[in-house]
Amino acid sequence: MAAPIFNTPFFTLFVFFSLQLYLSFSSSPSIHDLLRSKGLPPGLLPEEVKSYTFSQNGHLEVFLDAPCLTKYENRVLFEQVVTANLTYGSLIGVEGLQQEELFVWLPVKDIIVNDPSSGLILFDIGLAHKQLSLSLFEDPPHCKPEAVLTDTLTVSQTEYFPSGFRLSFAFSGFVSGVFTSR
Ligand SMILES: *[C@@H]1O[C@H](CO)[C@@H](O)[C@H](O)[C@H]1NC(C)=O
Repeated sequence: MAAPIFNTPFFTLFVFFSLQLYLSFSSSPSIHDLLRSKGLPPGLLPEEVKSYTFSQNGHLEVFLDAPCLTKYENRVLFEQVVTANLTYGSLIGVEGLQQEELFVWLPVKDIIVNDPSSGLILFDIGLAHKQLSLSLFEDPPHCKPEAVLTDTLTVSQTEYFPSGFRLSFAFSGFVSGVFTSR
């Protein structure tokens, strides 16, 4: 006798929980979907984002397991927590993101897409504005724990300034390390 599985309480329960699961996933978009919905490229934040909060007033907090490094045009360091005000087309007052310029790590302050059709994205790194190609940020990059790189760069010294930016003084060992890693 073929008892239709659809009539069993088990099936009803199964449908109920599947629906719950579906709703709980669909009600919190990934950080990359959130960026996309705000007119920003999803690759601005790495795959490894663990969670985030986004409040009504536009304050975004992004959590990673640990600080990590990745590379777009230059190397970029994500702190464990990255915060910013997210509005359409911009991340303003970014904290927890630094970009390497030659041997100097500079905090990224604002990230702005004024005109998507230009194919450009603007990085305000305090001392300078940089325009980069939007295509660099199409896909979320993988980000490696900072220790992986700093362990290999043993002959380097990092000074911490009160302003929060880091200046790395490089010796020959460090310099060759950087050039061979590119
Ligand atoms: C971010 O948004 C909050 C709340 O709207 C505001 O108080 C703060 O000044 C903003 N920060 C920046 C850097 O724009």
